[in-house]
Amino acid sequence: MGELAPPHVLIFPFPAQGPINCMIKLAELFVSLTDFHVTFLNSEHNHKRLGIGPESGSQRVRFKSIPDGLPESHPRSASLFFELHDSIQTQSRSVFREMLVKKVRVGEPPVSCVISDGLMPFVVDVGEEVGVPVISFRTLSGCCFWAFFSIPWLIEAGVLPILDGADMDQLVTGIPGMEGLLRLRDLPSYCQVRDLLNPGLQQMQVVTRYSAKAHTLILNTFEALEGPILAEIRKHCKTTRAIGPLNAMLQARAPDAPPLLPSTSLWLEDHSCLTWLDSHAPNSVLYVSFGSYVVMSRGQLIEFCYGIINSRKPFLWVIRPDLLAGDEMVLPEELTVEAKARGRFVEWAPQKQVLQHPAVAGFLTHSGWNSTLESLVAEVPMLCWPFFVDQQINSRFVERVWGMGLDMKDTCERVVIEHLVSELVESEGLRTATRAMAEKARQSVDPSGSSYLEFEELVNDIRAMSTCAI
Ligand code: UDX
Repeated sequence: MGELAPPHVLIFPFPAQGPINCMIKLAELFVSLTDFHVTFLNSEHNHKRLGIGPESGSQRVRFKSIPDGLPESHPRSASLFFELHDSIQTQSRSVFREMLVKKVRVGEPPVSCVISDGLMPFVVDVGEEVGVPVISFRTLSGCCFWAFFSIPWLIEAGVLPILDGADMDQLVTGIPGMEGLLRLRDLPSYCQVRDLLNPGLQQMQVVTRYSAKAHTLILNTFEALEGPILAEIRKHCKTTRAIGPLNAMLQARAPDAPPLLPSTSLWLEDHSCLTWLDSHAPNSVLYVSFGSYVVMSRGQLIEFCYGIINSRKPFLWVIRPDLLAGDEMVLPEELTVEAKARGRFVEWAPQKQVLQHPAVAGFLTHSGWNSTLESLVAEVPMLCWPFFVDQQINSRFVERVWGMGLDMKDTCERVVIEHLVSELVESEGLRTATRAMAEKARQSVDPSGSSYLEFEELVNDIRAMSTCAI
């Protein structure tokens, strides 16, 4: 019997910034810690935005692309999220199937398994049809995955649909393991519906339940952070691998690994803000960023501006070119002068480096899962203003369960913002809790830590799938 060829893993993130950033880290871990071949599959649209060319990749790493079915001019924004979701489900399926079937190419080993974003259940079906195992990676928090999984029980318990005029502070029942913890306003945005036929609710229920059909479920989380929830999830998705935080795993286990791409940002990173941070005292600056999807009104932006400026803390603020809903970013004169004196605006920042900078004292964030984990690992407490998907439940956990920040959801008033920014930057309690959780994150990616052991199990499982001998 011949020696086994190294496995070839096809990694297929949902075509959005958060999933790409998360899943490329797994690709980097495979490349530096194993002999696996990796193909990273982007939508054609993102492939171009990331500047991937024929020279990208290496002998063991290939970048490929697939159409997402939308015209080039489509904005692929939050309000049109389900257009992208539906399009990729229906339009990309046959191309993807062909890719898997025509798997033997010159110099390219056959695909042993697919690790695809759990948001795209069609991949599980295609894998079944062509006999390639599919592992589902949900790049959001475990608590949100579990809330989506619990949708049928939330309906049974009469929590959903939410009735007109309901008290949004009312506590939620129906999610095993979270009794007494969530208020209606803390449910993931797609669960806060008045109508059970709401497409967001329906899609998330179907998509999440599908992960139980995949060979394995991967979550970017760790036992010390979400242990009780993982225990609930494992009752239904038996092989659930909690291998996070992937950013900490990369830092600890493969510190010298060269990144697979010069940048995974869909926007151009402005590195000059790092020099600006250098000129500030340790623990003095507020970093403000609302991730890749949040859209706000000009009125909300002005409230944030007054709140932040009145707190008198220096700030670094990411304002994406498409952050404002159809409005121009024109600030009142008095704000412009103050903002220039104390702040710095950029369109997109090298966020991981910013959060690791000693000058950064706090993070005003939308509570996207990548941002939350990056902040946690960098020991930076958070002020949370959630927008959609898992952000409502993440921000609740940040404040109530982990004590690493303050949850400002559903409020956007300058006085409140000013008060909470000061509390965030000055609170020793928040900093201590964040530091303690960061330490647990580091332990989880130690050679004997829970996440690293799970990663090794995952690697062994994938090896067992690879039956091709050389
Ligand atoms: C979306 C959802 O909003 C999020 O809740 C879900 O968990 C994943 O998909 P997004 O809005 O992109 O994610 O937020 P987040 O998950 O935080 O990811 C944003 C990524 O962009 C982070 O890795 C962050 O480091 C990066 N980023 C953000 C930058 O590199 N520069 C910036 O200026 C802002």
